[in-house]
Amino acid sequence: MSLRHFTDLSAVSEGDLRFMLTDAVARKERLKAGERSKPLEGKVLAMIFDKPSTRTRVSFDVGMRQLGGETIMLTGTEMQLGRSETIADTAKVLSRYVDAIMIRTTSHERLLELTENATIPVINGLTDDTHPCQLMADIMTFEEHRGPVAGKTIAWTGDGNNVLHSLLEASARFRFNLNVAVPEGSEPAQKHIDWSQANGGKLHFTRSPEEAVDQADCIVTDCWVSMGQEHRARGHNVFSPYQVNAKLMARAKPDALFMHCLPAHRGEEVTDEVIDGPHSVVFDEAENRLHAQKAVLAWCLGA
Ligand code: CP
Ligand code: NVA
Repeated sequence: MSLRHFTDLSAVSEGDLRFMLTDAVARKERLKAGERSKPLEGKVLAMIFDKPSTRTRVSFDVGMRQLGGETIMLTGTEMQLGRSETIADTAKVLSRYVDAIMIRTTSHERLLELTENATIPVINGLTDDTHPCQLMADIMTFEEHRGPVAGKTIAWTGDGNNVLHSLLEASARFRFNLNVAVPEGSEPAQKHIDWSQANGGKLHFTRSPEEAVDQADCIVTDCWVSMGQEHRARGHNVFSPYQVNAKLMARAKPDALFMHCLPAHRGEEVTDEVIDGPHSVVFDEAENRLHAQKAVLAWCLGA
């Protein structure tokens, strides 16, 4: 079997992504039924964090344990990486010790350099550019609540960030319509738009959050300033029209879902009444990080 990296939704086939989602649902059911099989017994996952994390860190750690494996938690600054050992040399060394690497880092190039030099699978736990594990959990959550996502309409309102980039890729891979409302100057990177459209993504861009969410099946948002992107920070007055509040939520379909990768900045991109309200599935989404990533780990490690 050739090496299976999970760097981006665009780098994994539609068939493999669907296989993982089906597997995630089955693993979740089996876990809830009390099954405790250990397909990754003896395997070790190294986790490198160059940025903070709650969900990614805990869900990968617990997921690996539930699969019978172990994890090693590393932070870039505590490794020799922080004293300028190259990412390529780090990849070659870790490949001699562990069975897979999950990395949360800054530039996407660091992830790709690690991937190119590792002889074990590498998983993207978020970069400045994308967050594919999040989208696996998001699609799983949508389908759990509303059935197949294909042909449905998802609306994004807020900043054109890493989560939106993966959502753009997901729209092509999972065949849903994606409406995007971002303020001028906060547009997503063109390469993700181009890739999505070239692969069948049905995208609609607007400056108007009201237009984006109109009759949508799901509204998704995220923080206005991503980790390490403080230099891109723009005034709240730029983003406040993009806030998901009850008035905006009411423009979507009556049974529309609200999703947010978390952490949420309550009162900024979303109000309490929405995130704690009947449309919100944010904690199912957080839980599904665990189940979806177990399927990613099993796929990467051939379990
Ligand atoms: N959604 C997400 O990736 O959360 P963490 O930053 O807590 O890992
Ligand atoms: N866009 C956010 C996602 C956090 C999970 C960030 O990169 O900070």
